[in-house]
Amino acid sequence: MTVKTAVRKVTRLGNPVLRNGTRPLSPDEIAEPSVQRLIDEMFATMDEYCGVGVAAPQVDQPLALFVMGLPAGTERHPEGIELTAVFNPKVHFLDTELESDWEGCLSVPGLRGQVPRHRKLELSGLDREGVAFTRIYEGFPARVVQHETDHLMGKVYLDRMSGLATLAFTDELARR
Ligand code: NI
Repeated sequence: MTVKTAVRKVTRLGNPVLRNGTRPLSPDEIAEPSVQRLIDEMFATMDEYCGVGVAAPQVDQPLALFVMGLPAGTERHPEGIELTAVFNPKVHFLDTELESDWEGCLSVPGLRGQVPRHRKLELSGLDREGVAFTRIYEGFPARVVQHETDHLMGKVYLDRMSGLATLAFTDELARR
């Protein structure tokens, strides 16, 4: 019998879980079936809502975990992003110059804004087996990493905008 992986309801801005921060998990906790299931449900949720990343607070869990991934061949980033689950992430920036580009968020539906981010960074954390890893990201995937690690610190992209002048409804942007 196959059980369909549940899609989780996404928390929206105003829910305190998005602002209260998260706690790290030990490798033993990561191995627990409930946490392994949570990872699968976060991937399923990301897929359902066509997101590029989902952080645990967005599915109502105050845990230091995010997932990301993007199929190859999209207009946004043709190379795609490998499906990745990261616990207890630490980011070390490898550049000083910031680059602005559009971001949106499943927890802030319908809106987009220009957000300055670092172009290149080193991400370290634990994978879904609880094993430590370090990987370098550049460009759009580095932007996704910054967006998702912000969620784990109780921040959303609006906090990172240099002003609100570019904040726009996605359907209005599409019309232009
Ligand atoms: Ni988000």
